[in-house]
Amino acid sequence: MGGANSLQDQYGRTVDYLRLSVTDLCNYRCQYCMGPQGVEKRPHGAMLSVEECVEIGAAAVACGVKKIRLTGGEPLVRRGLLDICRGLRALPGLEELCLTTNGSLLPNLAGPLRKAGVDRLNISLDTLHPDRFAAMTRLGRLEDALSGIQAAEDAGFTNLKLDTVLIGGFNDDEINDFLALTMDHPWEVRFIELMPMGPCAQWEKSCFLPVEHILKNNPALQILSTEGVARRYRLPQAPGTVGLISPVSHDFCGACRRIRVTADGRLKGCLHSREERPLRGLHGEALQSAIRAGIVQKPSRHHLADRPSDTPRTMNQIGG
Ligand code: GTP
Ligand code: 5AD
Ligand code: SF4
Repeated sequence: MGGANSLQDQYGRTVDYLRLSVTDLCNYRCQYCMGPQGVEKRPHGAMLSVEECVEIGAAAVACGVKKIRLTGGEPLVRRGLLDICRGLRALPGLEELCLTTNGSLLPNLAGPLRKAGVDRLNISLDTLHPDRFAAMTRLGRLEDALSGIQAAEDAGFTNLKLDTVLIGGFNDDEINDFLALTMDHPWEVRFIELMPMGPCAQWEKSCFLPVEHILKNNPALQILSTEGVARRYRLPQAPGTVGLISPVSHDFCGACRRIRVTADGRLKGCLHSREERPLRGLHGEALQSAIRAGIVQKPSRHHLADRPSDTPRTMNQIGG
């Protein structure tokens, strides 16, 4: 056992985490992420096949990646997803296989995903009001997302994280309701600052709230840790925890350990950079050396403090 030693980029950051997007399609149309018409469907051949996903995962592990997170769009709409999971899980050296989902399809898929070797799930949930949920996702129903969370627990997933994008004027009056979930469940409820990319880049300033807002109004939150992407807190006696992810107000670029591969097979060193490196058609040593080059040349940081994201891609095309 034991994988390759992880590589460092030119700024000394260890890179050991791959976010692999398995589709840019989604069964929702979240207003901040995409337009009402959804994603332009591209021919199958334009997207990575099941075999290519596993081959790229294997090459990344050979370059020192220890954790792979499958993302989308919505990964659960991807045909062959379970084969991708099984293929990746079989890689010696991969320590953790995770998946980020909107949860709606978990009632049917949580059990199979668990059996296919997925270790951990993060589930997106932006509001606890059914009408707001329907309005924000355009196609989704809150009850499906909640059934999905239940299904994940029933299937034996633990250390569940719920991701809530904090949006001024939309869900900032629900912060206490989300915090209250941590009193009843062993979940990590995480608030993420809205990042200006895609449709929301044009939204009013008042939609972009710093997560500090939550701390200011909840002095009872006790700090647990500050390293990594999410600063973690806990309410007194709560079984669950609270995570604050502040990509805009306090960028965590200096601690970033990630690379990404888009569903059309392009390596991105930074979520917000324009720089991409095609991986399709590469195999063996050529594939590994492209991944190594992408790691070493990972951009130093994003520039969201000064301007919207530099990537012309929308979030569903990258996977967060
Ligand atoms: P863990 O493995 O549980 O730590 O998950 P994670 O936080 O890496 O993954 P998740 O998919 O739950 O991401 C949480 C949020 O952080 C998403 O809304 C992403 O858009 C955002 N995010 C993820 N990676 C980055 C990044 O590199 N830069 C920025 N600015 N935001 C990111
Ligand atoms: N800013 C912050 N988070 C976003 N997500 C999608 N678009 C944005 C954005 N502009 C979130 C989703 C999901 C995760 C993968 O990324 O809601 O939780
Ligand atoms: Fe789909 Fe996620 Fe985009 Fe919402 S944010 S439309 S769930 S890809």
